[in-house]
Amino acid sequence: MRSDLGFVHRYLPGEDKSGPTILLLHGTGGNEEDLIPLGATLAPGAAVLSPRGKVSEHGAPRFFRRLAEGVFDHEDLLFRTHELAEFAEAASEEYGFDLSKLVAVGYSNGANVAASTILLHPGLLRAAVLFRAMVPFEPDVTPDLSGMPVFIAAGRYDRMIPPDNTQRLADILGEAGADVDLRWSDTGHPLTYEDVSEAKKWLASILPKLSEAQDDRQ
Ligand code: MLT
Repeated sequence: MRSDLGFVHRYLPGEDKSGPTILLLHGTGGNEEDLIPLGATLAPGAAVLSPRGKVSEHGAPRFFRRLAEGVFDHEDLLFRTHELAEFAEAASEEYGFDLSKLVAVGYSNGANVAASTILLHPGLLRAAVLFRAMVPFEPDVTPDLSGMPVFIAAGRYDRMIPPDNTQRLADILGEAGADVDLRWSDTGHPLTYEDVSEAKKWLASILPKLSEAQDDRQ
């Protein structure tokens, strides 16, 4: 466990130093250890950066404050999103991973801060997997997300996230140019094997392209 760079976090180097790094973002009450096995399943061999959310809700770590379930403290959300982006940049310097191949995988509150990062720092995340995500805020300015691959897995019976909220997030990202793959399943808020298996397949098709695009630029 490291507590430097502003966030308690784990970093696990990948097999290929120039390969992708998965930014793991846990849900409310999770920590930097929670999603490590998920990261290894979804992207075997990839580097992993896993911070712990800095906000405590009665002892439960989160990535930003909320006023009630599904009602976010907008000011804190913006502040925490910038803070997380700075952490990712500092971590890439510290550990020497390629920031241009940073791919977020977030669940619930972690997916929401990932969505906020996509909107506020377009280009920082190369791709994203959002499990059980909702609209973090309605952007005043449409960011340029041209061609950014985003996988969203939503549950039709999620009692925390109304389906039209996830649909709205997909629309916002799509209108900004992202290549959104929104999958619905007959489940609730918890993650399922089907989510993991679909996301794994999706990532297997996306991750090799990140390296190819990089090779083209060299
Ligand atoms: C949030 O607060 O980000 C969402 O309500 C999901 C969660 O409870 O973590």
